[in-house]
Amino acid sequence: MKDTYILAIESSCDETAVAIIKNGKEVLANVVATQIDVHKDFGGVIPEVASRIHVENISMVIEEALKQANMEVEDMDGIAVTQGPGLVGSLHVGVQAAKTLAWAFNKPLIPVHHIAGHIYANRLIADLKFPLLALVVSGGHTELVYMKDEWSFEILGTTQDDAIGEAGDKVGRVLGLPYPGGVYVDKLAKEGKPVYQLAKPKTENELDFSFSGLKSSVLQFIDRCKRKGESFVPADLAASYQETAFEALLLRARKAIEQYHPKQMVLAGGVAANSCLREKVSVDLTNQYPDVEFIIPPLSCCTDNAAMIGVAGTVAYLHGERGDFDLTANPGMEL
Ligand code: KG4
Ligand code: ZN
Repeated sequence: MKDTYILAIESSCDETAVAIIKNGKEVLANVVATQIDVHKDFGGVIPEVASRIHVENISMVIEEALKQANMEVEDMDGIAVTQGPGLVGSLHVGVQAAKTLAWAFNKPLIPVHHIAGHIYANRLIADLKFPLLALVVSGGHTELVYMKDEWSFEILGTTQDDAIGEAGDKVGRVLGLPYPGGVYVDKLAKEGKPVYQLAKPKTENELDFSFSGLKSSVLQFIDRCKRKGESFVPADLAASYQETAFEALLLRARKAIEQYHPKQMVLAGGVAANSCLREKVSVDLTNQYPDVEFIIPPLSCCTDNAAMIGVAGTVAYLHGERGDFDLTANPGMEL
């Protein structure tokens, strides 16, 4: 069978990324130009700054990916791009670049949903088996997604307020840690114990999520200690936050597993890089549900990258999905 080569572009937030994927599985190039150092100074992503940096970087990143794979755009079967969701100005840069390549080299344009990309990152290390359940945990999303079959998505539960990554970043900020906070909360929590009681997330729909109450509970805990002149152990607070947040995730995941009986459950999104969450899934859930196969993406593919868009893009391409030249960025795109 003929090989399929897809060039993929991802620019939904603060990473300008381009990858080249062979047959939806093999990474021939994976280049990520991150803006973390710029946004660190502001304690978060400034959308206007992010899109300007994407404009500066995109051509260079495309060139670098082609060089890494030792290929030309002519060799590609299609150009995949994240159409949404994300920051509109950031998305526009990737979409515009993809349209330009597709038009100039007469290649099919393949729009990809960012979350489909995060889920399909798991295809780099395992064959996906359906029905599949995906626990999507990122800076912008917290979702339980049910896939009855390849390229079919049903959202079972979603966050009613903050995404888990967003909450982790805010907790990091109030603990005085650098941006992105979640990464440093993970490191700090390793030195602590989950000894503090924090508010457990509650939702009406048992598969939905909520993290703003937990985030406020951390803020109130710190304020209370300050008011009373009491000290607390930051590492213990980091560990307590993670324990409460991840147990809330696992509670919903367990309910979904018991209701939907998936063959596989995959973890997806930036927070899937968290060491405590990875351990909970690979040990606790694996022990509890021996009939379900749990897949955790490689660390390099948890946070935003274009390899995941290339993998999802290949599946979309084979399913006949095509974008016209009037394709625009869709910041609120639905899965
Ligand atoms: O998937 P991603 O790169 O961007 C979105 O699609 O939102 O996720 C970024 C999020 C950030 O909130 C970041 O703090 C979080 O992933 N993150 C982590 C870790 N690594 C990245 N959160 C907790 N522990 C980590 N090790
Ligand atoms: Zn993402």
